[in-house]
Amino acid sequence: MRISQEEACERLLQGDVVAIPTETVYGLAAALAHTQSIEQIFALKNRPGDNPLIIHLADASDLEFYATNMPPGIDELIDNFWPGPLTLVLPIDPGTVPFIARAGLPTAAFRIPKHPIARAMTRHVGALVAPSANLSGRPSATRPDHVEQDFGLHFPVVDGGTCEKGVESTILYFTDSQWHVLRLGALAAEVFSPFLGYTPALAKNEKILSPGQHYRHYSPKAKLFLGSGSYPGFPPVVVGYSDRIYAGAEKVFSLGPTTSVEVVSQNLYNILRELDERQIPAAWVDINIPEFGLWRTIAERLTRAAVELSP
Ligand code: TXA
Ligand code: MG
Repeated sequence: MRISQEEACERLLQGDVVAIPTETVYGLAAALAHTQSIEQIFALKNRPGDNPLIIHLADASDLEFYATNMPPGIDELIDNFWPGPLTLVLPIDPGTVPFIARAGLPTAAFRIPKHPIARAMTRHVGALVAPSANLSGRPSATRPDHVEQDFGLHFPVVDGGTCEKGVESTILYFTDSQWHVLRLGALAAEVFSPFLGYTPALAKNEKILSPGQHYRHYSPKAKLFLGSGSYPGFPPVVVGYSDRIYAGAEKVFSLGPTTSVEVVSQNLYNILRELDERQIPAAWVDINIPEFGLWRTIAERLTRAAVELSP
């Protein structure tokens, strides 16, 4: 059910959960102040309780209320990437963030979304927790109808059209004297280098540092076969690129051209969801793509999407 931004704000203030657009993916939002609504988010998504949420702030100065330590480089990151698809995990004063939102950790994740609707709503309601608006394990939602596929036509969603980025925010955490990537995302690791003096490496123990990372993610029901060579001719459905030819394929779902990783990124979850909408049992996925920049995020999401479902 599509609702206005104003109605969504009122519902959030009353303690309801609503879906809102951000520049990355749709979020299932609740006011940080309403612990019961945060519990409802975990129940709605069927999300394990040890997977913490991201807190969406209206203003960078709000951080001072929560964070107990500002690691070196944080000003450069905030000045250059907020508002935007960057999430920072910081040590916090545990009294400021409900236990459930941070899954009991002594840290919490923060970002300031760039989408005008999400921004206006954080200004009006205050801090919002918002995991991606999908059932746990499913591809994230990048359009209002994706939210409705997972939560039903009556679920309240603010329609902000198709998300610009199409993949989640990049998560950074400061450890061992440097910022590390806990989750690849809409900002390539390389973009931080001019501001930090180095490119953040992938955190080695990301599964421990970022509990959400060990769960199955982004998966359609279709069985995905990843291929980095030429199309073997089976299965008959291919997920590939508009500027490549897949001889013998019965149907090609195009992520976009290999010349625009931004377009591929924006289409990614929509294509994974379309496989299910069309009840495709299996697809061959072309992962012959570069190993740098935003392509790394695409490769990581497709690799995780291909992990077998447990029965
Ligand atoms: O783009 C995004 O970040 C979207 C939009 C809606 O803002 N949100 C999103 O939330 O992707 P979610 O819940 O799907 O992913 C949150 C990730 C999880 O992998 C979780 O483990 C990690 O953030 N995270 C949250 N708090 C953390 C913490 N204190 N330490 C480490 N990782 C944390
Ligand atoms: Mg998610």
